[in-house]
Amino acid sequence: MLSTQPAGIENSGRQYIPNANKGNNGDAAKRSPNQELLPLTAGINSHDHLEIGGCDVTKLVQQFGSPLYILDEESLRSACRQYREAFQNYYPGEFQVLYASKAWSCLGVCAIAHSEGLGIDVVSGGELYTALQAGVKPEVIYFHGNNKSVEELSLAIESGCTIVVDNWYELKSLVNIVEKLRATSLQQTRIMLRLTPGIDCHTHDYIRTGHLDSKFGFDPDQIEAVFAFIGQQTNLTCVGLHAHIGSQIFERQPHQDLAEVMVQWMEKAKSYGLPVTELNLGGGLGIRYTESDDPPSIDEWVQALCQAVKAACESQNLPLPKLLCEPGRSLIGTACVTAYTIGSSKTVPEIRTYVAIDGGMSDNPRPITYQSLYRAVVANRMSAPVSETVTVAGKHCESGDILIKEASLPQTEPGDILVVMGTGAYNYSMASNYNRLPRPAAVVVANQEAKLLLRRETYQDLIRQDCLPNSLLS
Ligand code: LLP
Repeated sequence: MLSTQPAGIENSGRQYIPNANKGNNGDAAKRSPNQELLPLTAGINSHDHLEIGGCDVTKLVQQFGSPLYILDEESLRSACRQYREAFQNYYPGEFQVLYASKAWSCLGVCAIAHSEGLGIDVVSGGELYTALQAGVKPEVIYFHGNNKSVEELSLAIESGCTIVVDNWYELKSLVNIVEKLRATSLQQTRIMLRLTPGIDCHTHDYIRTGHLDSKFGFDPDQIEAVFAFIGQQTNLTCVGLHAHIGSQIFERQPHQDLAEVMVQWMEKAKSYGLPVTELNLGGGLGIRYTESDDPPSIDEWVQALCQAVKAACESQNLPLPKLLCEPGRSLIGTACVTAYTIGSSKTVPEIRTYVAIDGGMSDNPRPITYQSLYRAVVANRMSAPVSETVTVAGKHCESGDILIKEASLPQTEPGDILVVMGTGAYNYSMASNYNRLPRPAAVVVANQEAKLLLRRETYQDLIRQDCLPNSLLS
């Protein structure tokens, strides 16, 4: 029997399934996944094992191997629906939610997001190809990036997606490419313009993009020249403006300020005769990685965004634009956990105990890159009391390969299954083969069934691109 721990339980010396949605008695449909540590369907079964999507995590590892990414379909679908429903509730105009596929681009994830009515934000030819192969309609694909290649731009034009133009170099290349392709394709190319709005927010320096010193977007002082230039292009239709100010943001004010600034730029673009009807305010809503993280819910975030856009449009006397946003982390971050198997350990007296797992910075580069914090549970003994603080170390030949510096866990032993929570966003998509570790498999779980989403890489996969010129053979 599955027992889902009630809401708001604080650490009572046991491992627990935290639930930030205070006062809400576990009604999964209403819980905002970005405020949880574990996926919505998580529970403990009669073997005292962690279950997700009705699947025993320990058994999944036996079946699919270790490490293993486990994606809870219900959490991802629920987050998609919560975004859409919030727009329906708070925005009287047209809207489109996009999934920022940089968070995790693969066929299955794009297909799930698309089936929930979301479009897809892509930032490379590879992500665009993935979305198209997943069956996503080009009308709802938006292509970002500060240095798209000629090949990428050509693929984007031919596919019919919308290109979010980042800079002058790209704009001028695009004009040339469209001119050359005109013989084969007569349709207009839809573009949007990315602006650097000059809005700051509190997050890690590497993931702030809206302040003026950013590599992305047109600066405010260039933008009128850009509007004038585009006004003269016959093959490009500028349908709107875009900005993204950063990621893992808990404040609502920066996005409200952004809405106000961007509505003013919409008005300016119209004064140049551009047919701008779409406004994309990017992604950025944060998720709960540790007990102390307290992000707004999806509903609260969308409400703030919509109210700010409505207020700005009213005060400027502008019609409501088609409003877009493109969350990544808050859609998929909490939907996935990574299960590892514990191996060796080492105690440095009076300093710390290292507990090593069979993955590390190659499957989750976020701690070493951004000093990100994670929480973990021992999935095969969920009721065991928490009895020690250990350092969870990866298996890479690098001292900094530490996944969790201070993990509160029960006594562990080799063979235990350690589940690290909140690994859906920017884990698989940033994974590498460092030290020639094959990338783990990923499964999607729902209704007591697990399906393969990504096969585990093999040693053959690792040398697939290697060339061994004859002259190197002895
Ligand atoms: N739109 C644009 C243009 C973006 O650059 C991003 C993220 C998003 C949307 C989605 O933002 P989200 O809703 O996921 O916050 N690797 C870093 C995060 C980099 C974010 C890059 N851009 C990390 O692991 O924290």
